[in-house]
Amino acid sequence: MSIVIALDEGTTNAKAVAIDGDGRVLAHASRGLGIRNTAPGWTEQDALEIWEASVEVLARVLAQVPADEVIGLAISNQRESVVAWDPVTGAPAGPVLSWQDTRTADRCAALAQVHGDRVLDLTGLPLDPMFSAPKMAWLLEQAPDGTVVGTVDSWLVWCLTGGSRHVIEAGNASRTLLMDLATLDWHPELLGVFGIPREALPEIVASNGDLGSTACDGLPAGIPILAVMADSHAALRGHGGGEPGVVKATYGTGSSVMQGTGAQLRRRPGVATTLAWLDDRPVYALEGNIRYSGSALDWTARLLGVADARSLGALAATVDDADGVVLVPAFGGLGAPHWDPTAVGTLTGLGAGSGPAQVARAAFDAVAHQVADVAEAMLAEGEALEAVRADGGATASELLMQTQADALGCEVVVVGEADVALRGVAAVAFAQRGIALPAAAASRTHRPSYSAQEREAARARWRAALDRSKA
Ligand code: G3P
Repeated sequence: MSIVIALDEGTTNAKAVAIDGDGRVLAHASRGLGIRNTAPGWTEQDALEIWEASVEVLARVLAQVPADEVIGLAISNQRESVVAWDPVTGAPAGPVLSWQDTRTADRCAALAQVHGDRVLDLTGLPLDPMFSAPKMAWLLEQAPDGTVVGTVDSWLVWCLTGGSRHVIEAGNASRTLLMDLATLDWHPELLGVFGIPREALPEIVASNGDLGSTACDGLPAGIPILAVMADSHAALRGHGGGEPGVVKATYGTGSSVMQGTGAQLRRRPGVATTLAWLDDRPVYALEGNIRYSGSALDWTARLLGVADARSLGALAATVDDADGVVLVPAFGGLGAPHWDPTAVGTLTGLGAGSGPAQVARAAFDAVAHQVADVAEAMLAEGEALEAVRADGGATASELLMQTQADALGCEVVVVGEADVALRGVAAVAFAQRGIALPAAAASRTHRPSYSAQEREAARARWRAALDRSKA
């Protein structure tokens, strides 16, 4: 038997599994991670804690399977977050600046005035503080000369290989605002825009490139690192990689909606174009991120004094619909595909008969309509959406998945697997040994129950509420 040990280093925890070539999970381990809000808009993590948690879960999983059957490691990681460190001592130079950190918002707004269009053209991304480059510049400005930077994959590979590889996987590099999508290399003009010296940056490598092998405390030496992928991209791969008319949606705190476009570098207004991964050829994708999806359910549960999102679902299910109540959770402005930083959260359509159940129902509608907005923005002229492949914690809600099918007018195929990203990155690792890992299997399918008129009415109500949230 061939086994891959796959790590998913996410924002809130590090998870590892041992997975075999048939896709069976033989062992798993996880450990939670801290996250600190040290000032308004500042969101930090600890690089050493990320490393220690990652190596711990890898070691725990390795201990549960026969060592001689392990062919290598596969790593998927939270994207855009930035680590800076001393390449001689390995000591982190400052905190990890999380993808959620917006301390560079003013700097980005000023840069966007002058360079926004050019940056979008070269990288496929809006000049937004979520991405890595402004955070890299901020860290390097505080750090001694000679400090190097990278994303979380860079840091993990550097630590795993005992400091011998300073690399960044190409899909992660495509989230930095520094990589030219056409050449898949750092673009000198972009380095100039953000003020980042090339020598501080890692070398861009393929997702299955020369990633070195383990040479660190806590793990046996010499285990090859077979694959590295950004987590959302790995989830897309775990769903099978994408086909025309099919998008994947991950329902977590926020949501990532992606459509694989294969070798085609497509652009659509309001959504980002990104490199999904690079193995024997580049594979591109369209993506829109929604900031408040699961967290909009949590927010509403708190508002209504309900225990959690699950109880909120039970309350929402006591009514047939929201009776005209619409929640727009634009708490930090509106992201993809609307991009309006001045938009505010709104609750509209309230009547004398509106109560907690209608508001609860409106929260589920909001998650579904936000995903629908992004999915529809991805479609080319005349293209129809065939299906959504859904994963993530909130897919456990039958109400949410049915609402999603109704909002989009297409099937929602739910993959119940706990972490599709792990399967995706393991697939790239197994492919190196000629083993084709099957895509994640569907656990249930929701079909639309609305007529075309009902759907259009629901979408029109949502759009009207969106207009009101735009300040
Ligand atoms: O873009 C940020 C994303 O990669 C974070 O993923 O799984 O940590 O929420 P996760």
